[in-house]
Amino acid sequence: MANQVMTIPLLHNLQEYSLRAQHMLEPNVWSYLSHGDTKSNEHAFARMSVMPRPLCHLVGGHTRLNLFGQALEHPILLAPVAYQRLFHPDGEVASAMAASAQGGQMVISSLASQPIETIVQGTLQAGGQAPWFQLYWQGERNRTLRLMQRAINAGSHVIVLTVDAPVKLANLQLPDGITAVNIEEQALMTNKGSAVFDGWMTLAPTWDDLDWLRQQTDLPIVIKGLLHPADAQQAVELGCDGIIVSNHGGRVFDGAPPSLEALKHIVQRIGDDIPILFDSGIRHGRDVFVALAYGASAVLLGRPYVWGLAANSAMGVAHVIRIIRDELEMTMALCGCAHIDEIDEQKLTPSVKVG
Ligand code: FNR
Repeated sequence: MANQVMTIPLLHNLQEYSLRAQHMLEPNVWSYLSHGDTKSNEHAFARMSVMPRPLCHLVGGHTRLNLFGQALEHPILLAPVAYQRLFHPDGEVASAMAASAQGGQMVISSLASQPIETIVQGTLQAGGQAPWFQLYWQGERNRTLRLMQRAINAGSHVIVLTVDAPVKLANLQLPDGITAVNIEEQALMTNKGSAVFDGWMTLAPTWDDLDWLRQQTDLPIVIKGLLHPADAQQAVELGCDGIIVSNHGGRVFDGAPPSLEALKHIVQRIGDDIPILFDSGIRHGRDVFVALAYGASAVLLGRPYVWGLAANSAMGVAHVIRIIRDELEMTMALCGCAHIDEIDEQKLTPSVKVG
C-alpha cells in the first residue's frame, strides 16, 4: 500500500482533500460531516507559535510510541466517526486498514455502518492490530455491556467510552442501506414531563454507571469528551486508563471551550498519571506538535481522514495520515526534537501560549 499511496495524483494537503471530498459527496452528507463549530478549535491552534531550534543532531529520530500496550509508529489516531459508508462504500473497513497500514490505530464508532467483526478481521488480515472500540452508552447497563462484550469478542482490546454526547442521533436522513448495524433497537422514551430530564437523560450514563462499567472488564477504558479538570480527576479516581480531551469537533455544544484550552488545564491537574489524548481541530502536523507540547500523548483526527476516505477510500485515508505525519516530523526537526517525548511546552513561543 505504501507505494500506491505515493502515486495519488494532485492532492498535496488537507485543504485539497477537503475540497475533493466536498466535490465527491452529496450536499446533505457534506453538511452532516462539516456540521459544528470547527472555527474555535482551529483558531486555538492558529494562535500558537512554535520556536525553531536549528543545529541539533537529529539523525535517527522517530515518532514511535506505546499506548495501552500497543506499539504505534506515530501519535496520529483516527477518531470514531459514525456511518462511514455515507462517505465511501468501503466504509470503516477502509479507514481501519489505512490506519494500520500507516502503523497507527483507529477507533470504531458504536454507530459504525459495518459489523465490528468485519472491520476487525479486515485489519487483522492486513497485518494490523485490532482497532479500539468506541462505546456509546446504550440507555441501560445490560444493553451497553452486550455491545462492549461484542467488541471485545471481536478482538478490540481498548474501550473508549464517549460521554460528551449522551444521546446522539444523526441529524440527517440516512440513505437506504446505511444504518448503525451493531446497535440493538433502543427502548422508547417516555413522552411525559420534560423531553430532556424525563426523556433523554433517562438514557444517559452517570458517574455510577462509569464506576460499574469499570468493574466489567480489565481492559483499558478511555473516557472521551472531558473538558473540565475535575471530571478528568474523577475519571482517574474511578480507575480509567486514559482520557481523550475533546469537544467532539465542536458538534455537540455551541459555546464549549476549544479542546486545546481544556488540554492544558487537564494536564496540569492530573499530570502523567494516565495517558491524555486529544482531538478537535487538528488540521496540520504542527497542530499535533502543539497538542503534544501541552502534554497530550497522542491525537485523533476526525473530519480530515473522512475527507481522505471520500476522495480515495483507504488510499486517501492513508495519504492524509502520511501528510500529517510528515508535517509533524518536519516540525519536530525544525524545533530540534528527535523523539516525541522531547516535545514540551518550552518549544512553544512564550508570548502566545494558551492560558
Ligand atoms: C464524529 N465524532 C464521533 N465521536 C464519537 O465518539 N462517536 C461517534 O460516533 C462520532 N461520530 C462522528 C461523526 C462525524 C461525521 C464527525 C465529524 C465526528 C467526533 C469525533 O470522534 C471527533 O471527536 C471529532 O471529529 C474531532 O474533531 P475534528 O478532527 O473533526 O475537528
